[in-house]
Amino acid sequence: MYRHSIDDPEQFWGHAAEEISWEKRWDKVLGNSSGPYYRWFEGAILNTCYNCLDIHIDRGEGDRTALIYDSPVTSVIKKYSYRDLRDLVARCAGGLVNHGIKKGDRVVIYMPMIPETVIAMLACARIGAIHSVVFGGFAARELAARIRDAQPKLIISASCGIEISRVIPYKPLLDEAITLSGTGPLLCVICQRPQSQAALIDGRDISWDQLMDTTQPAPCVPCIATDPLYILYTSGTTGVPKGVVRDNGGHLVALNWSMKYIYGMKPGEVFWAASDVGWVVGHSYIVYAPLAYGCTTILYEGKSVGTPDPGAFWRVIAEHGVDVLFTAPTAFRAIKREDPQGAFIKKYDLSKFRMLFLAGERCDPDTLSWAKDRLNVPVIDHWWQTETGWAIGANTAGLGLLPIKPGSCTKPVPGYNIRVLDDHGDELAPCQTGNIVIRLPLPPGCLTTLWNNDHDFHKTYLAEYPGYYLTGDAGFIDTDGYLWIMGRIDDIINTAGHRLSTGAMEEVLASHRDVAECAVTGVADEVKGEIPIGFVVLKAGVTRNSSEIERELVSMVRERIGPIASFKIAVVVRRLPKTRSGKILRGTMKKIADGTEYRVPATIDDPAVLDEIRESLAIRGFPKKPKK
Ligand code: COA
Ligand code: AMP
Repeated sequence: MYRHSIDDPEQFWGHAAEEISWEKRWDKVLGNSSGPYYRWFEGAILNTCYNCLDIHIDRGEGDRTALIYDSPVTSVIKKYSYRDLRDLVARCAGGLVNHGIKKGDRVVIYMPMIPETVIAMLACARIGAIHSVVFGGFAARELAARIRDAQPKLIISASCGIEISRVIPYKPLLDEAITLSGTGPLLCVICQRPQSQAALIDGRDISWDQLMDTTQPAPCVPCIATDPLYILYTSGTTGVPKGVVRDNGGHLVALNWSMKYIYGMKPGEVFWAASDVGWVVGHSYIVYAPLAYGCTTILYEGKSVGTPDPGAFWRVIAEHGVDVLFTAPTAFRAIKREDPQGAFIKKYDLSKFRMLFLAGERCDPDTLSWAKDRLNVPVIDHWWQTETGWAIGANTAGLGLLPIKPGSCTKPVPGYNIRVLDDHGDELAPCQTGNIVIRLPLPPGCLTTLWNNDHDFHKTYLAEYPGYYLTGDAGFIDTDGYLWIMGRIDDIINTAGHRLSTGAMEEVLASHRDVAECAVTGVADEVKGEIPIGFVVLKAGVTRNSSEIERELVSMVRERIGPIASFKIAVVVRRLPKTRSGKILRGTMKKIADGTEYRVPATIDDPAVLDEIRESLAIRGFPKKPKK
């Protein structure tokens, strides 16, 4: 199957597309009329929402459960059949139309993990509006940057989110973001939650109930397959987020295919992606893929620990009969730390549970074997990114599992022609580490461009190695053809499965009045995998207390980027280690903080700086445990 997908992608994906309901079939499976900007299913017309909801009702499956909302933080469990969900989505879509939203308009969704979020996304898809969901853990400034770029006509938000037992009011963040963005006039729809009511602004805000109550249901609007379905912003190497654009047709074909062949699912089974709808995993595997494929999907408003205990995941699996779970390794590390023996697992009947998929960061072999030994199911690490929208490398369960090599994400998935290149663009031999690239065309479902920014799309992903897409990850392919993803080639770090830009954090630190220069790097963390640490050099003449400045820096990052940055350590140093040409040696600082062995670079301008950094870190208890 893999060979077929590479040798004849048009036939391969044309065949996969037969599973989708089209209003008009494509003129061409793969068009490249616009140079490297390949387009899948050119000329075809369909509606994504129809394929996710109405189609199942038309097939006589309207009573099947589409969505289970399980919220340990509010003690609510609610089930929606495909018919229930379609009716709510159609009403919401009708409300949007009544308020002037039409095909191509952008709608920003800044919501917690509640059913209204899924309803809003699908309502946009129903009328061809382009949604842009912003993760709730981002601060007002980050939301403002997304509003400024997407230029929405309407924003849907909620009165609050709930972090374990902490109620987080969203409305003040939203109001601040709108002001900061300088965008308007805007209409805001606020879903009032009982835990906290938000004051609405007359003439600008309406409630979710008003949107839903006063309207006629809207039918599905025919959309061109290559039209955008959504924009999802992700961290780049600077403070400016990149708006990944996903189309309608290719996206649906790829996701539907993946449910069967990657996850080995059957329609009617229960799929649970324990992520957040604000991330790509949530878009693809809480909302679009399981619904398109006719599965039951779970929307879980809780964590792997603390809601209320490390048995939270097992309770959900047992209670809702989950067949396959998909989450990030960090969620398992958190469970492992609180329940090392897996005692909570024994309290639940997990007999229906078949497989665990992990992604978002490399799964360390310890976590993999802990999960496998205690759950007694295959544990599958698979590799992907916001840009691709679905897995690039995986053990494709639907094609029969291959032997698992802990630390490897197994093999390239059909559709992805993976190569490993050196810095000159020459292909490397097996087992040699280099830049991982994907030969164009990318398969359906991958980004088509960056919102309003073809130039950066080309520059970031296509320009470096003509004919290839640059993943930004480094790694190798071994002699058995297994893929090993070893880390990023840029300044992106992965904290608790969340992708963060150290460049964006550096921009915040550099804006502090006392900071002359700074560097942010990732340091190993037992649960989150990696957490950011900032090194700052103060301007000459600053005499204020360093600890006070460090505290200010920590709160600046929290305020400007959000709590999700997990930025808790800033260290004032006398100088940053640099090469003689002035390049900051971030890698060496990271090794010192991690306690791994490092060589003093021959090009360093002043080796004594490294000793000072080591001493500053030692005072703060780094490295936590010396490692070889
Ligand atoms: N709204 C507001 N704040 C949020 C938030 C949201 N939606 N999500 C997270 N935060 C806050 C957290 O409360 C925390 O705040 P704190 O610094 O005051 O404690 C901070 O952001 C960092 O969050 P996180 O890194 O998620 O840490 P955590 O301790 O709350 O949870 C895990 C740790 C491992 C349980 C959790 O990160 C997890 O389950 N991760 C799974 C990752 C995932 O879903 N990845 C997506 C790809 S599969
Ligand atoms: P995001 O866009 O937030 O999904 O983050 C994508 C990045 O996370 C990838 O480019 C990788 O660096 C990393 N990543 C995701 N899944 C894996 C995995 N299974 N193994 C290694 N790295 C991963």
